[in-house]
Amino acid sequence: MCGIVGAVSQRNIVSILVEGLKRLEYRGYDSCGVAVHQDGQLRRARSTSRVAELQDIQAGTGIAHTRWATHGAPAVHNAHPHFSAGPGATADAQGVIALVHNGIIENHDELRAELKARGYVFTSQTDTEVIAHLVHHHYEGDLFEAVQRAVLRLKGAYAIAVFCRDEPQRVVGAREGSPLVMGVGTGERAGEHFLASDAMALAGVTDQIVYLEEGDVVDLQIGKTWITSRGADGRFQRVERPVRTVQAHTGAAELGPYRHYMQKEIFEQPKAIADTLDAVEGISPELFGDGAYRVFKDVDRVLILACGTSYYAGSTAKYWLESIARIPCQVEIASEYRYRDSVPDPRTLVVTITQSGETADTLAALKHARSLGMEQTLTICNVGTSAMVRECRFSFITRAGAEIGVASTKAFTTQLVGLYLLTLALAQVRGRLDDAQEAAALKELRHLPVAVQAVLALEPQVISWSEEFAKKENALFLGRGLHYPVALEGALKLKEISYIHAEAYPAGELKHGPLALVTAAMPVVTVAPNDALLEKLKSNMQEVRARGGELFVFADSDTHIANDTGVHVIRMPEHYGPLSPILHVVPLQLLAYHTACARGTDVDKPRNLAKSVTVE
Ligand code: M6R
Repeated sequence: MCGIVGAVSQRNIVSILVEGLKRLEYRGYDSCGVAVHQDGQLRRARSTSRVAELQDIQAGTGIAHTRWATHGAPAVHNAHPHFSAGPGATADAQGVIALVHNGIIENHDELRAELKARGYVFTSQTDTEVIAHLVHHHYEGDLFEAVQRAVLRLKGAYAIAVFCRDEPQRVVGAREGSPLVMGVGTGERAGEHFLASDAMALAGVTDQIVYLEEGDVVDLQIGKTWITSRGADGRFQRVERPVRTVQAHTGAAELGPYRHYMQKEIFEQPKAIADTLDAVEGISPELFGDGAYRVFKDVDRVLILACGTSYYAGSTAKYWLESIARIPCQVEIASEYRYRDSVPDPRTLVVTITQSGETADTLAALKHARSLGMEQTLTICNVGTSAMVRECRFSFITRAGAEIGVASTKAFTTQLVGLYLLTLALAQVRGRLDDAQEAAALKELRHLPVAVQAVLALEPQVISWSEEFAKKENALFLGRGLHYPVALEGALKLKEISYIHAEAYPAGELKHGPLALVTAAMPVVTVAPNDALLEKLKSNMQEVRARGGELFVFADSDTHIANDTGVHVIRMPEHYGPLSPILHVVPLQLLAYHTACARGTDVDKPRNLAKSVTVE
């Protein structure tokens, strides 16, 4: 999604800006731009093409941006940086203020009308241009003052970086609801300062990072910085924020022998799971942080908040938490929960699940849960330096490594590992896990990488199905119990990268409506583990066959489901008990991947989607 990089230096920083954007590129964007101070003027380059095209400018102060369109189409005139040249200035006038923005300004219509009345001319459909003009309106020779005044008028979420033609060695940043960090140059970069929406953008430039907090405004100059924070009364006070040493990963990795990052990431799952389990010597609440035992002992229920694939990981965990730890669990889509009138219980463990740790809806849902008095918070997250990890009291960091493909794969399976460990830790505290059970569970977990490897060996069989799928426009996914969320995840994978309309149902629900869709043209993918619901599932499969539907079944080897007319079976190597969803999701990832390849879509950057959804 949108990315920000900014720098103040005495030497050319354009390569730093462009490299920073490249590191954020995998998150998805549809236009990009850079603005610098050069020969007493602001210069800007914007593009709907690749970031690399911005490289041919030189300057010591500048800001840059990747944009994922929310207000206004993905077009050059909507790309950031936006300029303000003052009232009456036409679209091609030289800018006085240059500004980039992540987030959404909710009162932009009202501000736009007000600024138009003052004579400002708008050249884009974005909410961002409003902020550029607003800063200009408040500018009286001191950019830091102007930004502080301007942000008081904003409603919504923003991280901004701004600079001014008349103060060549100064960049000002501000944040509320969207992440922003300051990088402090050291060694040969001493005195230089940087801004970024994620520390990853500054990897290789500096590891000295200040995480700005809600309401902060930061003044970056050569050799000095200044941070203020807005109090409840709207007044800004100077604050100190700690400088942390952050080993941010560098984002994009080599593709190696793979065609796409998604394929690479699917095949990295055995290693990602092994790495995630690496530091786990035994089951204990302290795996989630100091003091977790007391909190786990005190809670009566679990509330899981997440979006997309992470929500399906949470939906799987509900089955584990209720059946193994015997603790009631509620799973909520974060974007719904934050606005729902729910009944809070202070004795709740609030668990957020997020690959990026920056998903705006999940962060807002966490904040909402806290505002309702639920203070015990834990996150299962793949990025140790993310906002979510900083916001939650406890955390478990999955070690999936950087996930570049927009479609989440290894993040999902490692989240499930983290959630299973949480289930076992809660079961232990509640007296439902003795030493023998703990040892058996750990053994199963440690064997998972080998078991996943065996499932990956099914790839050629999955490829043989994908040609058929590529010709379809609809698909139905069925699962039952613990494997219903796996069916949902399989359908999500297929729709997001192949653009085939896919829906998932708990198989028992078929006859209550979706059966009407079943014809020979509708492939029905069925997740068929050898569990307690197998016989019920077989009956549901009969219902499909009786209507001429064609079944594509991923069946455990001991299920006795065989190839037949209209029934295609791929045999899973072994049944894996409660951890079976971690195995069964893998062929669904492969099916989506190869179907998308057969349709020739942009697998790693599917249309309209971003990797990290940092706006509401
Ligand atoms: O970073 P998060 O796990 O919070 O992201 C949540 C969703 O945006 C994400 O899982 C999305 O659904 C993926 N594109 C699914 O493949």
